[in-house]
Amino acid sequence: MGNTFYLYVHIPFCQSKCPYCDFVSFRAPHEQIDRYINSLQQEIQLIFSKDFKGYDLQSIYFGGGTPSWIPERYIAEILKTVKDFFPLDQIEKTIELNPNVEKYKITAYRDMGINRLSIGAQSFKKDKLTFLERDHGVNDTMSLLREIERVNFPNTSVDIIFGLSDEENIEEEIANLGKYHNVVKHVSAYELTLEKSVPLFERYQKKYLCKEERGGELYADMIRELGKLGYEQYEISNFAQKGYESKHNLSYWSWENYVGVGISAASFMNFPRPYGSRWKNVNSINEYFQAIEENRLPRIYETIDRRKAFEDYLLTGLRKNSGISLVHFENTFGEHYKACLQSYDILVKEQLLEVNNDFLYVTNAGRMVLDSIIEMLTKDF
Ligand SMILES: C[S@@+](CC[C@H](N)C(=O)[O-])C[C@H]1O[C@@H](n2cnc3c(N)ncnc32)[C@H](O)[C@@H]1O
Ligand code: SF4
Repeated sequence: MGNTFYLYVHIPFCQSKCPYCDFVSFRAPHEQIDRYINSLQQEIQLIFSKDFKGYDLQSIYFGGGTPSWIPERYIAEILKTVKDFFPLDQIEKTIELNPNVEKYKITAYRDMGINRLSIGAQSFKKDKLTFLERDHGVNDTMSLLREIERVNFPNTSVDIIFGLSDEENIEEEIANLGKYHNVVKHVSAYELTLEKSVPLFERYQKKYLCKEERGGELYADMIRELGKLGYEQYEISNFAQKGYESKHNLSYWSWENYVGVGISAASFMNFPRPYGSRWKNVNSINEYFQAIEENRLPRIYETIDRRKAFEDYLLTGLRKNSGISLVHFENTFGEHYKACLQSYDILVKEQLLEVNNDFLYVTNAGRMVLDSIIEMLTKDF
């Protein structure tokens, strides 16, 4: 098999800015959106006209921001630019939507070849949406899901946020989602996390709005309730009906090559060996425009030393339910693999980690304390 990679396209524009959101996203005038899409196309051409000969593209993911907020012809134009370099027919092609998207766009996306929708529903409960100051209501999500069912769209995912308060009831949340079980094939569930830069942090002065043990309980409830509906967990925050795991999402946690285009987009290439290279595009749209105008890639490279590579490897690999291949682990990290063996033996005894068929993975109990597990495994470095 030849080399493969996955492509992320960042569309930073939103109708309004949510008070908990730390992503690079904002409202912008039409001219800026137009210029951005042109620059994205140029960035794609700059990258793929030289560096990617012999590579196979495995997926495209339009994320944001709110990709569904900009005119759909822009998405078609970007797909066309990528298609000049790679065949797109057979691959997973996802777009993130906000629930108040105009309905006609669903068929427009399908006609341009998009085959997976990811809806930022956040909740099926009015009080949660009001608290999050979302610009959509539960009715928007429900009528969008009905439209998706009507046009027979093949694959839809829904994002849910939890942990807004200690009183939250996950059973009710997931019971509402369960009514759309036929349409929703995949669920991403995230605990609300407030970075210092966002307005809700200013209001509450806390990173998490529920107590730590309560956050753990809500998460356990989430895993159980989604499981009852047939959504099996395959990664810390991701659940899918059988066969609907996102190929694109999995690439981030599997030491696969992924390339991000657009402002703030992150990339990883698994060479030079052994640790690969990571970079992130600039966050500023003006710096981005300037770099592209000068035919430069707007990248900031990370320095990856052994310790950082080791941490990244464990953190991403252990997020997946299938875990880390011990053979790949040893091939990549050699003697350092042995250094961490002792700690992982202890964690296996404590039933936080398990080894099965040469794969190392976290147990349900371990999943709640993944950060501490990583700390312990990397302490001898
Ligand atoms: C960056 S958003 C883009 C999708 C779309 N604009 C939306 O908000 O519906 C992707 C997902 O990240 C999650 N998210 C955003 N901010 C978050 C936060 N502070 N804590 C937890 N999850 C968050 C939401 O579930 C959201 O659907
Ligand atoms: S719509 Fe999504 S990306 Fe935009 S501000 Fe809200 S959470 Fe962030």
